Amino acid sequence: MRLFLDSANLSEIEHALELGMVDGLTTNPTLLAREGGDWEGRAREICRMVKGPVSLEVTSLKCGEMLEEARRLVTFGPNVVIKVPMTQDGLKAVPILQSRDIDTNVTLVFSPMQALLAARAGAAYVSPFVGRLDALAQNGMELVREIMTIFQNYNYPTQVIVASVRHPRHVSEAALLGAHAATIPYKIMMQLARHPLTDAGLETFLNDWAKLPPITRQA
Ligand code: G3P
Repeated sequence: MRLFLDSANLSEIEHALELGMVDGLTTNPTLLAREGGDWEGRAREICRMVKGPVSLEVTSLKCGEMLEEARRLVTFGPNVVIKVPMTQDGLKAVPILQSRDIDTNVTLVFSPMQALLAARAGAAYVSPFVGRLDALAQNGMELVREIMTIFQNYNYPTQVIVASVRHPRHVSEAALLGAHAATIPYKIMMQLARHPLTDAGLETFLNDWAKLPPITRQA
């Protein structure tokens, strides 16, 4: 399973890369706007830093304008994936981009039928938003399970990126369902490696070790 970082913050990206936890990255207009400043320079820098796929989202609503935007975004790096909203115009843009060897990530997916349409259109990735569904008292991971079953039933090559992740359990459930990737906010990515019993166990080991006379501690 691939772990993607859901961030446009260069310090977060740098640290997660150092830890070897980043197989790819996703951004969206909200994440880029949150950082402020020169979004294009930032996006270009992100494409340089991250070796795996980097999703950059179009902000036009019309197919023709999405294609124009995508033409510019792909110049940012060879790893750019064009994030397209799950709309009728988005669905029109996906096969055109894919026919130009430009991978697409259909975003804002909230139903199995939206995912099926994206796969039929030839999208390289779909992004079901689990956290936003959970927030409406629906079941985000159930959506992922249904999408995985549909894609397996028909051998669609479209990869599922579990998005809108709110806690580490979303990531482990995504892995149990065989999702291809999860895109994870920095704070939650840092939680993945941690467990309070690991911290407590380590503290005990080191305290016990410190009780040995210094000379006998050396190997
Ligand atoms: O980047 C797409 C998605 O992960 C955004 O999630 O936290 O805005 O619901 P969120």
